[in-house]
Amino acid sequence: MGKPVPRIREAVSPRPGPRVHRVRDAAATAAAKSPHTPAPLHVTTCAKVNLSLEIIRRREDGYHEIETIFQSIDLADAIEIELTSDARIEIECTDASIPTDERNLCHRAIVAMRPVAGASLGARMRIEKRIPSGAGLGGGSGNAAGILLAVCRGLRLDVAPEKLARIGATLGSDVPFFLHGGTMLGRGRGELLTPMEPLKQGVFVVVKPEVSIPTPWAYAQPTFGLTSHRPRLNLRAANSVLARFPRSALPFRNALEAAVVPAFPAVARLLEELLSEQPCFASMTGSGSAVYAIFTHEDRAVEVARRFAQRGLFASVAKPTRQAIEIR
Ligand code: C5P
Repeated sequence: MGKPVPRIREAVSPRPGPRVHRVRDAAATAAAKSPHTPAPLHVTTCAKVNLSLEIIRRREDGYHEIETIFQSIDLADAIEIELTSDARIEIECTDASIPTDERNLCHRAIVAMRPVAGASLGARMRIEKRIPSGAGLGGGSGNAAGILLAVCRGLRLDVAPEKLARIGATLGSDVPFFLHGGTMLGRGRGELLTPMEPLKQGVFVVVKPEVSIPTPWAYAQPTFGLTSHRPRLNLRAANSVLARFPRSALPFRNALEAAVVPAFPAVARLLEELLSEQPCFASMTGSGSAVYAIFTHEDRAVEVARRFAQRGLFASVAKPTRQAIEIR
């Protein structure tokens, strides 16, 4: 019965200073303690594929309620970041098509961390992109999640995982997933996560056609079928299938294919070509434009990927991972 009291007291008179003060100054305090530039952190951020994506309904806020199974894979970007306390954010990126100003998700991630790390938080970073953008592989979201974790690590901030996930969700629906990685069910707009049986086997071939697809475009198409008439995902059955994969086939689909495939013949063609290689599974990832196939043997995956790469397409071989971010 003692519990409600502090809550009421807190609501009437929010706790003043100490904790807020200590946290707000974290970037400046770290700089004062160590007048030298802090050692740069090396952040590796994985891509994801959606093993399944069902759209339940359009929401009032413009998003769609979905049920998706995320899987992180070891196709990854590398970010070198130095945290500073001069409130400046400087970004260099090897992919010239990606903006390096305040539109960049890494820039927004630093800004989003200021309420916990201090208003003076700044950063210099270099992003080496290997994950193509506009592909449904979550490259930008993974980068943002990597920056959130790097700020916590670099400034030794003890931010509750739920709080970090909430900050992540303000940057993008799948950022909370990247804070974990592995095999996860995503509900809501993709940010409500439940760990699933990890995918232990399978080698992915990820191929991207020349075209890139903005996520809002795909979700705005009236052509995909809402799946509210279908029974929602049975977690136990899905876990059992994942645990037995590749002995049992994945009974999943990506509902956004119905929107993307008719409008982008290149995506349809690549999917057909991948399927003709007789993989265990093939699908588009997220809102496209990348498609992937899963093979049991690496040699076979390498051979298939090489054939696509020879045609000048982005093609990569990747394995499932248990985590999406690594910081050294
Ligand atoms: O959250 P994120 O920034 O990745 O979403 C980009 C856009 O994709 C949203 O503005 C929305 O148009 C669409 N979207 C959606 N439903 C989701 C996720 C994304 O409609 N669950």
